[in-house]
Formats: sequence, C-alpha cells, structure tokens
Amino acid sequence: MTRPAVVVTRRLPDTVESALAEQFDVRLNGDDHPMSPGELRAALREADALLCTVTDSLTVGVFDIESCRARIVANFGVGYNHIDMEAARRLGLVVTNTPDVLTDDTADLSIGLMLAVARRMGEGERQLRAGDWTGWRPTHLMGTRVTGKTLGIVGFGRIGQAVAHRARSGFGMSVLFASRGPVADEVVAGAAAGAEQRPLDALLAEADFVSLHVPATPETYHLIDARRLRMMRRNAFLINTARGDVVDEVALIDALQAGTIAGAGLDVYQQEPSVPKALMALTNVVLLPHLGSATMESRTAMGMRAVENLVAFFEGREPPDVVAVVDSGAG
Ligand code: DGY
Repeated sequence: MTRPAVVVTRRLPDTVESALAEQFDVRLNGDDHPMSPGELRAALREADALLCTVTDSLTVGVFDIESCRARIVANFGVGYNHIDMEAARRLGLVVTNTPDVLTDDTADLSIGLMLAVARRMGEGERQLRAGDWTGWRPTHLMGTRVTGKTLGIVGFGRIGQAVAHRARSGFGMSVLFASRGPVADEVVAGAAAGAEQRPLDALLAEADFVSLHVPATPETYHLIDARRLRMMRRNAFLINTARGDVVDEVALIDALQAGTIAGAGLDVYQQEPSVPKALMALTNVVLLPHLGSATMESRTAMGMRAVENLVAFFEGREPPDVVAVVDSGAG
C-alpha cells in the first residue's frame, strides 16, 4: 500500500524524523532552509500532508492553488497565526496544532525573562564578557526585586495559568489576570491561590510585571499599544513570550526610550527574525530569539504530537488536535 506523502518544512529532532519515516513517505528539509511561498504551494499540490511550523507563512496567496493534493496541515507549534485558516478551510484542509506539551517550558521562559530583565542579567553578562567588570561593589547593577511583587497575566489559558502557578508558588507573587471571559474558581485556585481577575486596563495600572499569553488574532493585534503602555507603572516590566503582533513594537520602543515603563523581556517580535535596531540599542530589554518551547523535551513532544495527528488522520480517525476557524489557539 502506498504511504501518504508528508512534506516537513523544517528539520525536526531526530526521533521525530525517524517516527515520520516509519509511517510516511516523508520528504525532509535537509538543509533546514525556510521554505519559499513557491515551495509551500508545490508541497500542497504534490503531497498528502504538510507538516509546517511558525516560519511558514501559509497566506491566502500560498493557498491560492488550482489543485490541492494535501488534505491536512499538521502545525508544529501551538500558535497558528501564520496560517490563514479561512483559506485553508476553503481548500478543505484539516489543520492541527500541538498544545499542552510546550506549556511548562514556555512558562519557565516567561519567568526567566522576568528575572533576567528585573535583575539586569543581560547587562551584567555583557559587561563581564566585555572585560568591563571592575569587581563587587554595593551599587553595582542594582535591579528590581521579583519576589512578592504583583504579576499581571494577560490571557489565562494553559501557559498563563502555568506562569501564575510558578509566580505564586515560587516567588510569592500576587497574581492578577485578564481574560476574555469568566474563569472557573477551581481553575484559578489550581493555578494560583488568591489570583484575581481584572479588566485589562486595571491590571496594567496595578501590576509590577505584565506577562502576555494571548494568541495572535485580529482582536489581539496591538492589544498593548501606546495608550495601554502609558497605563503601566513607570517601574513595571513587560514580558512577551506570546506573539510579536500582540504589542505595538514602535510604541514599545518609544515607551522604553522615554522611561514610561522600566523594561521589557521579549521572546517574540513583529517581523521575525528581524528585530528593530532601536530595540537592540536599549539596555533595559532582554531579547531572546523565540525560544519559548526550545527544549529537547518540548520540541520532541511537539513533533510526536504532530505525528499522532497525521497518523490519526490517515487512519481515518479524528486527529486529537484539530483547530477550528473560530478557535483562538490560546496558549
Ligand atoms: C508555539 O508553539 O506557538 C511556539 O511559539 C513555537 O511557534
């Protein structure tokens, strides 16, 4: 029996590529180059499935093909704002993602960014590596305490809850959260005892740290804009491990330059992999290259979850992680 052909757009951990090769006629991306729109279109025309990820812009234009052989797009990642879901639906494509398995690592990184920017770790490391450290002194690189402060979490899905849990139980922080709808008491209690829901604007005015955990949708585009940055406290820090589009990057740079907020820890950007030079010139930011889920454990589990979705689909079963057009894809 011929095996379904699966085009895999980027290199995946070895165990995942091996698992794919056992089940499918798999077409791997040996040199790991980001695929062009033309390559993505060819994959949709010529293969039964596309295993794609955040670097693949599956736009209306890419889906504008006369004949589509592919029937499923298995996304490697929880966020799928790089896929035009309406256009995929029009072609009859099933789209799946990889929730749950990256929650802990992404939450860990959010806490890491919070500590790094508040405690000036990037500045300290750069100073030491440059040979500019002259020795211990009481006033050297004094930062801001994290323990006991107030954390405002924007988006209380899986990752938001996991960050709340770490902040409350590890750092004794008071937790506020903003969410589109009401959150059940047991969910709140399970994440962080005593956490309180607030309207977004009220949360921004109260929090010492604001951490973003909403998906990128038309509704969350530039959710944090100049007006909302002005609502934050001057000594507050903004953490973003969600998606670049959620923050108006130009307004954020203005706020950081003007001292409207104290600093930012960022893992995601509006035009990845391009990061504005003005952002890189600032010392009160910690900048990471989209590493939220980048552990061997998460990336392997994400790959295996994509494999499970493909296997289920081609065995005629409902894939476990189908995302619908109306689903927000909240982390
Ligand atoms: C995700 O899963 O959305 C991560 O950010 C990787 O894209």
